[in-house]
Amino acid sequence: MTNEQTEKELKDFHIVTRHLVMEKDLNYHGNLYGGTMLAWLDESSALYVMESIGYTNFVTAGMENVRFKSPARSGEAVVFYCRTAEIGRSSITVQTRAFVHDPLTDRKDEIINCSITFVCLKDGKPFAYFESEDYKSRRGRKLL
Ligand SMILES: CC(C)(COP(=O)(O)OP(=O)(O)OC[C@H]1O[C@@H](n2cnc3c(N)ncnc32)[C@H](O)[C@@H]1OP(=O)(O)O)[C@@H](O)C(=O)NCCC(=O)NCCS
Repeated sequence: MTNEQTEKELKDFHIVTRHLVMEKDLNYHGNLYGGTMLAWLDESSALYVMESIGYTNFVTAGMENVRFKSPARSGEAVVFYCRTAEIGRSSITVQTRAFVHDPLTDRKDEIINCSITFVCLKDGKPFAYFESEDYKSRRGRKLL
């Protein structure tokens, strides 16, 4: 895919975080460790949800389409893009895409394109936050 096509596809996405891959993040073959990448995906997507919905008491319920397409290596920058894919009663699903970005050429190589679902809680149980007046009153405001 050309960079132009990628930029087009990312039009509705927000850059949430970036990470610089360091030696401590590598597996013994010299690539970014998959577990670290999963933690970064979870964190970026959760940050996106917090800022988008104005509610912070939620848990990660599931991740779909977790397939690592290309590796990242030491010294490379990984950029995380998120968009809201679906909103239910208590759940929100985020599409998160991560790329290795070369700042010198502006080339982006996709590492992953996955979906992560978070469930809002109240008193430890699923809470239909997206049907609440609080959420409805926030919806008009431009959050993320
Ligand atoms: C996620 C969790 C709150 C769901 O509780 P539950 O009582 O089974 O939930 P329900 O069946 O009533 O469903 C509530 C909502 O969660 C969604 N949901 C439940 N499990 C899901 C899953 N695995 N993937 C995606 N969505 C899920 C349902 O679709 C429903 O969405 P809606 O309200 O928008 O329609 C519960 O399983 C939990 O606490 N899991 C541990 C989460 C956690 O600790 N994550 C950190 C990593 S270990």
